[in-house]
Amino acid sequence: MSDAASIALIDRPLDLRGPGTSVRFANRLLLAPMEGVTERCFRDLVIGLGGVGGACTEFVRVSSSAIPQRVIRRHLGAAQTVPVAVQLMAPDAEHLVTTIAAAEAAGAAWIDLNFGCPAPVVFDKCAGSALLRTPDRVAAIVRAAVAATRLPVSAKVRAGIDSPDRVAEIVLAAAGAGAAMVTLHARLRVQTYAMPATWRWIGEARAALDRGGHAIPLVGNGGVDAAGDAARLMRESGCDAVMIGRAALADPWIFRAALGGAPADAAEARAFACRYIDALAAEYGERTALARGKQLARWYRAGGLFVGREEERGRVLRLDSVSAVRGWFAAAIPVTGS
Ligand SMILES: Cc1cc2nc3c(=O)[nH]c(=O)nc-3n(C[C@H](O)[C@H](O)[C@H](O)COP(=O)(O)O)c2cc1C
Repeated sequence: MSDAASIALIDRPLDLRGPGTSVRFANRLLLAPMEGVTERCFRDLVIGLGGVGGACTEFVRVSSSAIPQRVIRRHLGAAQTVPVAVQLMAPDAEHLVTTIAAAEAAGAAWIDLNFGCPAPVVFDKCAGSALLRTPDRVAAIVRAAVAATRLPVSAKVRAGIDSPDRVAEIVLAAAGAGAAMVTLHARLRVQTYAMPATWRWIGEARAALDRGGHAIPLVGNGGVDAAGDAARLMRESGCDAVMIGRAALADPWIFRAALGGAPADAAEARAFACRYIDALAAEYGERTALARGKQLARWYRAGGLFVGREEERGRVLRLDSVSAVRGWFAAAIPVTGS
């Protein structure tokens, strides 16, 4: 739950201005793109709980050819009630421009460019976070993307590869090339996801953008673990909005709670898990539903289903059928009562 001043800080619209169109987020909370997590089933369910101002597909990698519209449509899913971006990750502008046209035709609200992925398979192909060592290449990709679409184009970056020394240069490169918004994940590539985020770097990025005369929104990301953290990050760093990643998997109600809504009770948490598993099974089949259902169990803290009985979490992770995992969630009663 959040206090009134925190809610007022978050519960304000934010406009993302592109060359030909604008996007309005109803509030300052964005659901982070997470490959293997925020595909359309999860995203739609979380958006349906309320409190999400905007969201993004998992990254769509553009390498040896352009990505067809039908693939992007699959990532986007059905018409959305909040703006949803298509996130693209490319080593250069080749094939990116054609893919952006496909994303625009498929209904993307805006285009987000990934300059943060730490995975070696991406890094070694000079995409994702590898581009952070060459801010001029970040700028060239953003510039090409901006020229290719009427939609706003945003950039999602990390603070650096192994040092934050060039964080100002990186965000200024994106902004100077026409990015309508920059999201800074306040970790280095070498810190992957494990180390604590350093919110001070977000403040430094905001100051650099201000000094450079760039009034575009800066989104702070990294380590927002509880509803109260969102406003704290905005206050401490001066960022304009907050992006929430893994905490949304642990507690999909975190957005609603940051806006003053009640946290989920056990019945809601049970129903969400069952609906999620059902949607996954219908969309992707039982194997994916089993893997993602267990992934939810690994992270889930909504509704107190695992409070006081972590051994149950281990038991769910050892189950070997979708029906067993779903059945566990359907019957789960927290020891604290609900
Ligand atoms: C499993 C997983 C998959 C991710 N996939 C993406 C992705 O596709 N695109 C992206 O820009 N960031 C991706 N990220 C990074 C998140 O968007 C976010 O920046 C990061 O998790 C930090 O936020 P958090 O501390 O709130 O989790 C991923 C993170 C995780 C844990």
